Amino acid sequence: MGQGVGFGKVILFNEHFVVYGIPAVASAIGAKTTAVIERSPGSGVELEDHRRETPGYKAEKFEQQKESLDIMLKFMKIDTQHNHYTITLGGDLIAASGVGSSAASCAAIARAFSQELNLNFSDERVNEVAYEGEKGYHGTPSGIDNTAATYGGLIWYRREGSAQLMERMRLRNPVEIVMGNTGKVADTKLVVSGVKERKEREPEKYGRLFQEADQLVRDARKQLEDFNLEKVGAYMNENHRLLQEIGVSSPELDALVKLARDMGAVGAKLTGTGRGGYMVALTPGRELQTRVANEIDRHGPQALRTTIGI
Ligand code: MEV
Repeated sequence: MGQGVGFGKVILFNEHFVVYGIPAVASAIGAKTTAVIERSPGSGVELEDHRRETPGYKAEKFEQQKESLDIMLKFMKIDTQHNHYTITLGGDLIAASGVGSSAASCAAIARAFSQELNLNFSDERVNEVAYEGEKGYHGTPSGIDNTAATYGGLIWYRREGSAQLMERMRLRNPVEIVMGNTGKVADTKLVVSGVKERKEREPEKYGRLFQEADQLVRDARKQLEDFNLEKVGAYMNENHRLLQEIGVSSPELDALVKLARDMGAVGAKLTGTGRGGYMVALTPGRELQTRVANEIDRHGPQALRTTIGI
């Protein structure tokens, strides 16, 4: 039996912009996906998905998950003709849009195969496999999700051509966040291609917004490293505005972002693909976290109370 894990993540700055080479910041959250692989005589692969889900997520992602698994099996050169494999997914990370569940499952599966078949995958290799797996869900992933899922921690991420560049960042202390779920499943492929279309149609507007996003994340990094959380929150608010302007927010996300800010969150924005999925609110301190999370709970699916910078 082989076992593996992948970290859930939150993107704090610059989802979507990161697809075009602009830096982004992501952090692991305190929830993981686990994979267990059992090998038996026979052939073929069976996937048992025991993860808790946003209703409809697994059904909607079924075909993409199958494609992702096929890509990974080929890439790892797993012989499914002379062995039968049962893959069981579990863990405490909800299967939902916005928390990196597809990437976490890809990293967990890569690690579990490595253990079962003594492949000795380094983290770098796990990340390569997870990146291939992400193609089944995304088409053209930037690589931020698989990188966060593989390495965990707080990361500065940038894509340069085909290179995926990651730098580890440190937070003085872990910080509480709340992630609010719209309960809607988002199709990353579709939302990413929508941005591409609009960007081609309105190059001047998008050029300006992309430049702003580039400057913003560099300023925000400095404030994060200086642990100036009020300023970090203000940059998150600004980042949400830029994401709204490139058309990836939704009324449900905007409402949760407003609610969190009204309850005292120091900053709030959508996170991940957008058009559904999750938002994130920066809520330093247990008391503020509880206040914001309880209010979000009253309006929809249960909020995730977690931390960044662990
Ligand atoms: C999705 O979690 C993040 C996006 O920026 C897509 C990507 O980076 O591949 C929307």
